[in-house]
Amino acid sequence: MTGDDAADRLDTAIAAAERGGRLALDSFRTALTVETKAGPMDAVTAVDRAVQTRVAEFLADAYPDDAFVGEEDDALKAVPAEGTAWVVDPIDGTANYVAGSRVWMTSVVACRDGEPVAAANYAPATGDLYAAADGRTRRGGDPATVSDTDDPAAFTINPIFGVSSNHRRELTDVVETVLAEFGDLRRFGCAQAALSGVATGELAAAVSTVELNDWDTAAGVHLVRRAGGRVTDVHGDRWTPGSEGLIASNDEAHDTLVDAFEPSE
Ligand code: IPD
Ligand code: CA
Ligand code: CA
Ligand code: CA
Repeated sequence: MTGDDAADRLDTAIAAAERGGRLALDSFRTALTVETKAGPMDAVTAVDRAVQTRVAEFLADAYPDDAFVGEEDDALKAVPAEGTAWVVDPIDGTANYVAGSRVWMTSVVACRDGEPVAAANYAPATGDLYAAADGRTRRGGDPATVSDTDDPAAFTINPIFGVSSNHRRELTDVVETVLAEFGDLRRFGCAQAALSGVATGELAAAVSTVELNDWDTAAGVHLVRRAGGRVTDVHGDRWTPGSEGLIASNDEAHDTLVDAFEPSE
Protein backbone atom coordinates (compact mmCIF):
# COMPACT_ATOMS: atom_id res chain seq x y z
CA MET A 1 0.00 0.00 0.00
CA THR A 2 1.45 3.36 -0.99
CA GLY A 3 1.51 6.26 1.42
CA ASP A 4 -1.40 7.86 -0.43
CA ASP A 5 -3.47 4.68 -0.07
CA ALA A 6 -2.72 4.54 3.64
CA ALA A 7 -3.65 8.22 4.05
CA ASP A 8 -6.94 7.66 2.21
CA ARG A 9 -7.72 4.67 4.34
CA LEU A 10 -6.92 6.70 7.46
CA ASP A 11 -9.57 9.26 6.51
CA THR A 12 -12.02 6.39 6.04
CA ALA A 13 -10.96 4.72 9.31
CA ILE A 14 -11.54 7.97 11.21
CA ALA A 15 -14.92 8.58 9.57
CA ALA A 16 -15.98 4.98 10.29
CA ALA A 17 -14.87 5.09 13.94
CA GLU A 18 -16.65 8.42 14.44
CA ARG A 19 -19.86 7.15 12.85
CA GLY A 20 -19.81 3.96 14.90
CA GLY A 21 -18.82 5.69 18.10
CA ARG A 22 -21.54 8.32 17.79
CA LEU A 23 -24.15 5.60 17.31
CA ALA A 24 -22.95 3.89 20.50
CA LEU A 25 -22.93 7.21 22.35
CA ASP A 26 -26.64 7.67 21.58
CA SER A 27 -27.41 4.68 23.84
CA PHE A 28 -24.69 5.24 26.47
CA ARG A 29 -26.10 5.29 30.02
CA THR A 30 -29.54 4.21 28.84
CA ALA A 31 -31.34 1.03 29.90
CA LEU A 32 -29.76 -1.76 27.83
CA THR A 33 -30.57 -5.43 27.50
CA VAL A 34 -27.32 -7.23 28.20
CA GLU A 35 -26.67 -10.74 26.90
CA THR A 36 -23.62 -12.85 27.67
CA LYS A 37 -21.48 -14.94 25.34
CA ALA A 38 -18.70 -17.16 26.76
CA GLY A 39 -19.53 -16.44 30.42
CA PRO A 40 -21.09 -13.94 32.85
CA MET A 41 -18.27 -11.40 32.31
CA ASP A 42 -18.48 -11.56 28.50
CA ALA A 43 -21.28 -9.08 27.77
CA VAL A 44 -22.78 -8.00 24.48
CA THR A 45 -25.67 -5.69 23.61
CA ALA A 46 -27.71 -4.86 20.55
CA VAL A 47 -25.65 -1.67 20.36
CA ASP A 48 -22.40 -3.63 19.78
CA ARG A 49 -24.05 -5.37 16.83
CA ALA A 50 -25.69 -2.24 15.43
CA VAL A 51 -22.42 -0.32 15.55
CA GLN A 52 -20.56 -3.10 13.77
CA THR A 53 -23.23 -3.21 11.07
CA ARG A 54 -23.05 0.54 10.54
CA VAL A 55 -19.24 0.55 10.37
CA ALA A 56 -19.16 -2.50 8.06
CA GLU A 57 -21.64 -0.90 5.65
CA PHE A 58 -19.69 2.36 5.61
CA LEU A 59 -16.40 0.58 4.90
CA ALA A 60 -17.92 -1.68 2.22
CA ASP A 61 -19.27 1.39 0.50
CA ALA A 62 -15.83 3.05 0.49
CA TYR A 63 -13.75 -0.07 -0.29
CA PRO A 64 -16.00 -2.85 -1.64
CA ASP A 65 -13.06 -5.20 -2.34
CA ASP A 66 -11.55 -5.13 1.14
CA ALA A 67 -12.17 -7.96 3.63
CA PHE A 68 -13.92 -7.30 6.95
CA VAL A 69 -12.92 -8.70 10.35
CA GLY A 70 -15.15 -7.90 13.34
CA GLU A 71 -15.99 -9.18 16.80
CA GLU A 72 -19.73 -9.57 16.42
CA ASP A 73 -21.93 -11.69 14.17
CA ASP A 74 -20.53 -13.64 11.23
CA ALA A 75 -17.64 -11.39 10.17
CA LEU A 76 -14.18 -12.92 9.61
CA LYS A 77 -12.51 -13.61 12.96
CA ALA A 78 -8.83 -13.18 12.05
CA VAL A 79 -6.83 -10.89 9.78
CA PRO A 80 -6.11 -12.59 6.42
CA ALA A 81 -2.40 -12.93 5.64
CA GLU A 82 -2.87 -11.38 2.19
CA GLY A 83 -4.84 -8.45 0.82
CA THR A 84 -6.43 -5.50 2.59
CA ALA A 85 -8.75 -6.10 5.52
CA TRP A 86 -10.57 -3.81 7.90
CA VAL A 87 -10.50 -4.91 11.53
CA VAL A 88 -13.24 -3.50 13.74
CA ASP A 89 -14.16 -3.69 17.39
CA PRO A 90 -17.49 -1.83 17.48
CA ILE A 91 -17.26 -1.28 21.24
CA ASP A 92 -14.01 -2.23 22.95
CA GLY A 93 -14.81 -2.19 26.64
CA THR A 94 -18.39 -3.39 26.49
CA ALA A 95 -18.39 -4.12 30.25
CA ASN A 96 -17.47 -0.46 30.89
CA TYR A 97 -20.05 0.74 28.37
CA VAL A 98 -22.77 -1.30 30.07
CA ALA A 99 -21.70 -0.09 33.53
CA GLY A 100 -21.75 3.56 32.43
CA SER A 101 -17.97 4.03 32.64
CA ARG A 102 -16.48 6.27 29.94
CA VAL A 103 -13.60 3.95 29.04
CA TRP A 104 -14.69 2.36 25.75
CA MET A 105 -13.81 2.90 22.12
CA THR A 106 -14.80 2.15 18.58
CA SER A 107 -11.69 0.72 16.92
CA VAL A 108 -11.09 0.62 13.15
CA VAL A 109 -7.85 -0.34 11.40
CA ALA A 110 -6.87 -1.23 7.84
CA CYS A 111 -4.38 -4.09 7.55
CA ARG A 112 -2.39 -4.79 4.40
CA ASP A 113 -0.95 -8.32 4.07
CA GLY A 114 -1.39 -8.74 7.81
CA GLU A 115 0.27 -5.43 8.78
CA PRO A 116 -1.79 -2.63 10.35
CA VAL A 117 -1.34 0.50 8.19
CA ALA A 118 -4.06 3.01 9.13
CA ALA A 119 -5.74 3.03 12.55
CA ALA A 120 -8.38 5.06 14.38
CA ASN A 121 -9.59 4.57 17.95
CA TYR A 122 -12.44 6.86 18.93
CA ALA A 123 -13.62 7.20 22.53
CA PRO A 124 -16.88 9.14 22.17
CA ALA A 125 -17.59 9.51 25.90
CA THR A 126 -14.33 11.42 26.41
CA GLY A 127 -14.04 12.89 22.92
CA ASP A 128 -10.57 11.43 22.33
CA LEU A 129 -9.63 10.35 18.81
CA TYR A 130 -6.33 8.50 18.31
CA ALA A 131 -5.19 8.01 14.73
CA ALA A 132 -2.17 7.14 12.59
CA ALA A 133 -1.26 6.00 9.10
CA ASP A 134 2.34 6.51 7.89
CA GLY A 135 3.00 9.61 9.96
CA ARG A 136 3.11 10.19 13.68
CA THR A 137 0.21 9.10 15.85
CA ARG A 138 -2.09 11.92 16.85
CA ARG A 139 -4.55 12.40 19.68
CA GLY A 140 -7.02 14.95 18.39
CA GLY A 141 -4.91 17.69 16.85
CA ASP A 142 -1.73 16.87 18.76
CA PRO A 143 1.16 14.53 17.97
CA ALA A 144 1.48 11.64 20.42
CA THR A 145 4.75 10.26 21.74
CA VAL A 146 5.46 7.34 24.04
CA SER A 147 6.83 8.15 27.49
CA ASP A 148 10.57 8.55 28.07
CA THR A 149 10.53 6.79 31.45
CA ASP A 150 13.45 4.37 31.36
CA ASP A 151 13.49 3.01 34.91
CA PRO A 152 11.43 -0.22 35.04
CA ALA A 153 10.79 0.46 38.73
CA ALA A 154 8.83 3.54 37.60
CA PHE A 155 6.85 1.79 34.86
CA THR A 156 3.05 1.85 35.00
CA ILE A 157 1.84 -1.25 33.17
CA ASN A 158 -1.65 -2.22 31.96
CA PRO A 159 -2.61 -5.88 31.60
CA ILE A 160 -4.92 -5.86 28.57
CA PHE A 161 -6.45 -9.31 28.86
CA GLY A 162 -8.45 -10.86 31.58
CA VAL A 163 -11.60 -12.18 33.00
CA SER A 164 -13.81 -12.07 29.91
CA SER A 165 -11.30 -14.32 28.15
CA ASN A 166 -11.19 -16.75 31.10
CA HIS A 167 -7.52 -16.17 31.82
CA ARG A 168 -7.67 -15.40 35.54
CA ARG A 169 -4.57 -17.50 36.37
CA GLU A 170 -2.45 -15.76 33.72
CA LEU A 171 -3.77 -12.36 34.83
CA THR A 172 -2.86 -13.12 38.44
CA ASP A 173 0.69 -13.97 37.34
CA VAL A 174 1.01 -10.70 35.39
CA VAL A 175 -0.35 -8.64 38.30
CA GLU A 176 2.12 -10.30 40.69
CA THR A 177 5.02 -9.65 38.30
CA VAL A 178 4.09 -5.99 37.84
CA LEU A 179 3.83 -5.43 41.58
CA ALA A 180 7.08 -7.30 42.29
CA GLU A 181 9.28 -5.90 39.51
CA PHE A 182 7.77 -2.69 38.16
CA GLY A 183 6.18 0.52 39.39
CA ASP A 184 2.39 0.43 39.30
CA LEU A 185 -0.58 -1.24 37.71
CA ARG A 186 -3.62 -0.06 35.74
CA ARG A 187 -6.36 -2.14 34.21
CA PHE A 188 -8.77 -0.18 32.04
CA GLY A 189 -10.97 -3.06 30.84
CA CYS A 190 -10.48 -1.75 27.30
CA ALA A 191 -7.42 -3.08 25.50
CA GLN A 192 -7.50 -0.34 22.86
CA ALA A 193 -7.59 2.36 25.56
CA ALA A 194 -4.50 0.85 27.16
CA LEU A 195 -2.63 0.67 23.85
CA SER A 196 -3.70 4.23 23.03
CA GLY A 197 -2.38 5.15 26.49
CA VAL A 198 1.03 3.67 25.68
CA ALA A 199 1.04 5.69 22.44
CA THR A 200 0.39 8.93 24.33
CA GLY A 201 2.82 8.26 27.18
CA GLU A 202 0.20 7.72 29.90
CA LEU A 203 1.48 4.18 30.39
CA ALA A 204 4.97 2.70 29.97
CA ALA A 205 3.59 -0.60 28.70
CA ALA A 206 0.57 -2.79 28.01
CA VAL A 207 0.86 -6.56 28.31
CA SER A 208 -1.00 -9.71 27.42
CA THR A 209 0.56 -13.11 27.99
CA VAL A 210 -2.23 -14.83 26.06
CA GLU A 211 -3.34 -14.49 22.45
CA LEU A 212 -5.94 -11.78 21.97
CA ASN A 213 -8.32 -11.21 19.11
CA ASP A 214 -7.01 -8.96 16.35
CA TRP A 215 -9.79 -6.39 16.95
CA ASP A 216 -8.52 -5.96 20.53
CA THR A 217 -4.99 -5.19 19.40
CA ALA A 218 -4.23 -4.31 15.75
CA ALA A 219 -5.27 -0.63 15.80
CA GLY A 220 -3.49 0.05 19.08
CA VAL A 221 -0.35 -1.76 17.91
CA HIS A 222 -0.10 0.65 14.98
CA LEU A 223 -0.72 3.67 17.22
CA VAL A 224 2.09 2.59 19.58
CA ARG A 225 4.54 1.97 16.74
CA ARG A 226 3.84 5.30 15.06
CA ALA A 227 4.30 7.05 18.42
CA GLY A 228 7.83 5.69 18.80
CA GLY A 229 7.09 2.54 20.79
CA ARG A 230 7.74 -1.15 20.19
CA VAL A 231 5.29 -4.05 20.05
CA THR A 232 6.36 -7.70 20.22
CA ASP A 233 4.92 -11.03 21.24
CA VAL A 234 5.83 -12.45 24.65
CA HIS A 235 9.09 -13.84 23.21
CA GLY A 236 10.28 -10.46 21.97
CA ASP A 237 9.58 -11.16 18.29
CA ARG A 238 7.80 -8.49 16.25
CA TRP A 239 4.03 -8.64 16.86
CA THR A 240 1.83 -9.71 13.96
CA PRO A 241 -1.86 -10.69 14.05
CA GLY A 242 -2.31 -13.97 15.91
CA SER A 243 1.00 -13.63 17.81
CA GLU A 244 1.39 -15.34 21.16
CA GLY A 245 0.61 -12.51 23.55
CA LEU A 246 1.64 -8.90 23.18
CA ILE A 247 4.05 -6.52 24.87
CA ALA A 248 3.67 -2.88 23.81
CA SER A 249 6.10 -0.45 25.39
CA ASN A 250 7.84 2.89 25.14
CA ASP A 251 10.92 0.90 24.00
CA GLU A 252 13.04 2.15 26.89
CA ALA A 253 13.38 -1.28 28.56
CA HIS A 254 11.52 -3.66 26.28
CA ASP A 255 13.88 -6.60 26.85
CA THR A 256 13.33 -6.29 30.59
CA LEU A 257 9.59 -6.60 29.99
CA VAL A 258 10.06 -9.67 27.80
CA ASP A 259 12.29 -11.27 30.45
CA ALA A 260 9.64 -10.60 33.08
CA PHE A 261 6.53 -11.72 31.18
CA GLU A 262 7.73 -14.50 28.84
CA PRO A 263 6.04 -17.61 30.23
CA SER A 264 8.46 -20.26 31.49
CA GLU A 265 8.11 -23.69 29.86
C1 IPD B 1 -12.38 -6.80 25.96
C2 IPD B 1 -11.64 -5.64 26.53
C3 IPD B 1 -10.89 -6.05 27.78
C4 IPD B 1 -9.98 -7.21 27.55
C5 IPD B 1 -10.72 -8.37 26.92
C6 IPD B 1 -11.45 -7.93 25.67
P1 IPD B 1 -14.65 -6.27 24.57
O1 IPD B 1 -13.03 -6.44 24.74
O2 IPD B 1 -10.70 -5.12 25.60
O3 IPD B 1 -10.08 -5.01 28.23
O4 IPD B 1 -9.42 -7.61 28.78
O5 IPD B 1 -9.79 -9.40 26.60
O6 IPD B 1 -12.19 -9.02 25.18
O7 IPD B 1 -15.22 -7.63 24.73
O8 IPD B 1 -15.11 -5.30 25.61
O9 IPD B 1 -14.72 -5.79 23.18
CA1 CA C 1 -16.91 -8.55 23.62
CA1 CA D 1 -12.50 -5.87 22.46
CA1 CA E 1 -16.14 -5.43 21.54
